[in-house]
Amino acid sequence: MKRKETQVTRHLSILVVVGLALAAGAPALAGGRPQASPAAKPVSKTPFGKTKDGTPVDLYTLTNRHGMTAKVMTYGATLTELIVPDRAGTPGDVVLGFDSLQPYLAGVPYFGATVGRVGNRIAKGTFTLDGKTYHLATNNGPNHLHGGNVGFDKVVWKAQVVPAKHGEAVKFTYRSRDGEEGYPGTLDVSVVYTLTDENQLRLDYAATTDKATPVNLTNHSYFNLSGDGSGSILGEVLMINADEITPVDDTLIPTGALLPVKGTVFDFTKPTAIGARIDQVPVAPPVGYDHNYVLRKAKGGGREAGTAGRQAEGALTLAARVADPKSGRVMEVLTTEPGVQFYSGNFLDGTIKNRHGVPYRIHDAFCLETQHFPDSVNHPNFPSTILRPGQVYRSTTVYAFSVE
Ligand code: BGC
Repeated sequence: MKRKETQVTRHLSILVVVGLALAAGAPALAGGRPQASPAAKPVSKTPFGKTKDGTPVDLYTLTNRHGMTAKVMTYGATLTELIVPDRAGTPGDVVLGFDSLQPYLAGVPYFGATVGRVGNRIAKGTFTLDGKTYHLATNNGPNHLHGGNVGFDKVVWKAQVVPAKHGEAVKFTYRSRDGEEGYPGTLDVSVVYTLTDENQLRLDYAATTDKATPVNLTNHSYFNLSGDGSGSILGEVLMINADEITPVDDTLIPTGALLPVKGTVFDFTKPTAIGARIDQVPVAPPVGYDHNYVLRKAKGGGREAGTAGRQAEGALTLAARVADPKSGRVMEVLTTEPGVQFYSGNFLDGTIKNRHGVPYRIHDAFCLETQHFPDSVNHPNFPSTILRPGQVYRSTTVYAFSVE
């Protein structure tokens, strides 16, 4: 058995090396400024500290030939750093994060984490599935948020380097046992992070279960395209490929209706500075966006609604584009998911400081959390989040970078 594993590992390393060699002939980044093209370094794995119960945490570093680096740790399968060159070729870290485990253990609001079993909110932490009512932690006012007290962001995942067609990849896996955080069924979940030589960070999620359960996975990276610690994102220009949002009550639970964005402060169908109308968003302070957008393809897209079960994933289509006039960096988000939560960092209040001691203040970062709609499990008219035994949950999101 041991010998077999060694052979498999050796085989994988050869594949990774061959993959890198092939990628070395790939054309320079389209839409971006051609960069010097050093060969990517092989994926490295370094110790990143230990959790409070002594479990070791590792950090994996992926690089590409155009100066991009992605660092992902096994605690929460969390993206801690994403280095992207700006229009002058100067590298900068476009996500909030830390270079040690300690600040994550001390508590940060999901910086870069893989969020689950159900990302976003479940009203009053309650749902009924196949006639049985389940009660989950209410960890966000009266509601359940991002998987509960110890969600997928606060557990240590297993990791292994896997071969990738165009770049480098690490696969993170986690077994969430039956009853964990109140959810039914043992869920085997994985997410593969791939950094490609086309300057894309690609996240491929998969999950299977032995009992029907809701599943809604997302990544909770906080982006600032000018760079971590460079202040407000209100000047960054956003387009969201959506004509509607799911309006919410004052605890951020969807009413169940779909609201056309046309003529409202939620309309990002044309590229608009994030700050252009942010003070008019009709929410109690701290003011800002914290809303789920119904992506264009989702409407009439044939996804099965209700609690019967999920359909096969949708096509990978454009969800959003953000351009930063200061640095010239551009990020496109593509996803197979029907929705995206646009969160403008409203609850950052200066108490958390970055690795250089700079406080993260309100609107110093934004999140684009690709997902099924919030509280879907209580809204039969929303695309279903229910995964049943025998089905495979699949979801893909791509963050594609260029400069202008
Ligand atoms: C939620 C926000 C929340 C943030 C961090 C977002 O997904 O929509 O309301 O404050 O996550 O927890």
